[in-house]
Amino acid sequence: MKLFIETFGCQMNISDSEIVASILDGEGYQICGTAAEADLVFLNTCAIRDNAEQRVRKRLRELSGLKRKQPGLMIGVLGCMAERMKEQLLEEELMVDLMAGPDSYRELPAMLLQVSSGQRVANVMLSEAETYEDLSPVRHHSDGVSAFVSIMRGCQNFCAYCVVPYTRGKERSRAPESIVEECRKLMTDGYREVTLLGQNVNSYHWQGDRSLRFPDLLKEVASAVPSMRIRFATSHPKDISDELIATIANTPNVCHHVHLPAQSGSNRILHLMNRKYTREWYLGRVKALREAMPDVAISTDLIAGFCSETEEDHMETLSLMRECHFDFAFMFAYSERPGTSAAEKLADDVPTTVKKRRLNEIITLQQELSLESNKADIGLRFSVLVEGVSKKSDQALFGRTPQNKVVVFPAGDLKAGDTVDVVIHDCTSATLLGKTV
Ligand code: 5AD
Ligand code: SF4
Repeated sequence: MKLFIETFGCQMNISDSEIVASILDGEGYQICGTAAEADLVFLNTCAIRDNAEQRVRKRLRELSGLKRKQPGLMIGVLGCMAERMKEQLLEEELMVDLMAGPDSYRELPAMLLQVSSGQRVANVMLSEAETYEDLSPVRHHSDGVSAFVSIMRGCQNFCAYCVVPYTRGKERSRAPESIVEECRKLMTDGYREVTLLGQNVNSYHWQGDRSLRFPDLLKEVASAVPSMRIRFATSHPKDISDELIATIANTPNVCHHVHLPAQSGSNRILHLMNRKYTREWYLGRVKALREAMPDVAISTDLIAGFCSETEEDHMETLSLMRECHFDFAFMFAYSERPGTSAAEKLADDVPTTVKKRRLNEIITLQQELSLESNKADIGLRFSVLVEGVSKKSDQALFGRTPQNKVVVFPAGDLKAGDTVDVVIHDCTSATLLGKTV
């Protein structure tokens, strides 16, 4: 049987798709490259914003068309949308055979047996314990150079706008031994970089035979795989401790890049969002990071037009961006998610046109900041891990600096997986251009 998995949304979903592939691998399903050649298509979905859900719905309509032509085709919806919209998706005209929430993937073989006997099945039970730690992900999304390893699942921060605590359940950390083991195996398989993943990696707390927090885990992983680069995402600003900053700074193979979602620069909005930190705290953490590591890159997530956001609040977001001098950002217009506390208690009262205008101002400013950040790299030398051939020219390669910036440079006789020193001579706001030295 051939299985095609299409993944929407975040890195966590990429990692989850690899877990799903591993569960079905033992059941005789092989991964294939297109829906047209598949017997079973899974959409691993994201519910974080309305436009993410709309993309999945569009794809489901296309797949329903394909199924009309190939009635044997099985279609499954996995992940956060399955969790959120079980009844709705079953009631609609879409030809979905199976729905599995993020904690139900071990049930997939049994569910598929039911589907092949003509039933439509759904399992969206959340678990307080599931971490899939004993599974070896099948890295069908991977380039063989860089891999994701999930270290914790779920989130219980309940930021007012966010659907994740409802779709992915409570926070739980994975056993450190199984994380270290998976990283060791990646190193043996030739991987050169690992990104430790979790909704809030720096809240990682293992309490089993021993107690371990994120800085210690980072140290253990880094020393177990000394030839690999270590990255981690995403960090919550409330849990960026001095100890964690010192660990990133002092562990040679931990990359100097921290993704630290700010969401807003206004204390009033941060409070309404239930973010559990202030603008001053955030600025203090950024200062501590930059003092400990002058070469650190800091990226962020920002939301424009949250409930009741005024022009002054928006200005504070712009000024926070300038003060932090973010190297990169993911920027979004607020999208009300049913069931969240913002949807229940706060009015989504910033008009769409205003949200869009504010978002555009944020994007324009970030482009300036990213360009300045990249210009400051001109003339500097970086160790670059080669990831593959550049999209624009097969004579050029691309890779990343430890700061997570993409660099394009002439190929020479280098290949993916090599690490090379590159001096930067030019840039755009998105890419560095360099020469190997
Ligand atoms: N509307 C807009 N952006 C959101 N995010 C999460 N929920 C919403 C929402 N309802 C953004 C946050 C988060 C990122 C993953 O997605 O910035 O950090
Ligand atoms: Fe959502 Fe906040 Fe949890 Fe991040 S920390 S997943 S934004 S609730």
